[in-house]
Amino acid sequence: VKVRFSKTGKDDRIVEASEGDTLMQTALSNGIDEILADCGGALSCATCHVHVAPDWMDRVGPPGDEEAAMLEMAVDPDGTSRLSCQIVMRADLDGLEITLPKSQL
Ligand code: FES
Repeated sequence: VKVRFSKTGKDDRIVEASEGDTLMQTALSNGIDEILADCGGALSCATCHVHVAPDWMDRVGPPGDEEAAMLEMAVDPDGTSRLSCQIVMRADLDGLEITLPKSQL
């Protein structure tokens, strides 16, 4: 399945994700350096913060309770914020569009 990572509209990178991998793993294995993921997916760092394109929010779904609490530690979270280590890639997320937070560029 494909994922597009963009930085405010420019320098888009389309990468191939494997189903079952998290979005965070997908970013790291494809050299998306803006996602730090300091805690390695343990839901304790918020450095894997991303914005999901509004059109995709329904399919991706809202953060869980623990994730929402951790998102408050991220810089400028909003209604499209998710932690990428908590999004598991699956077939119906093919074409997913992600914007990297300005604070991580
Ligand atoms: Fe640390 Fe996602 S990698 S919270």
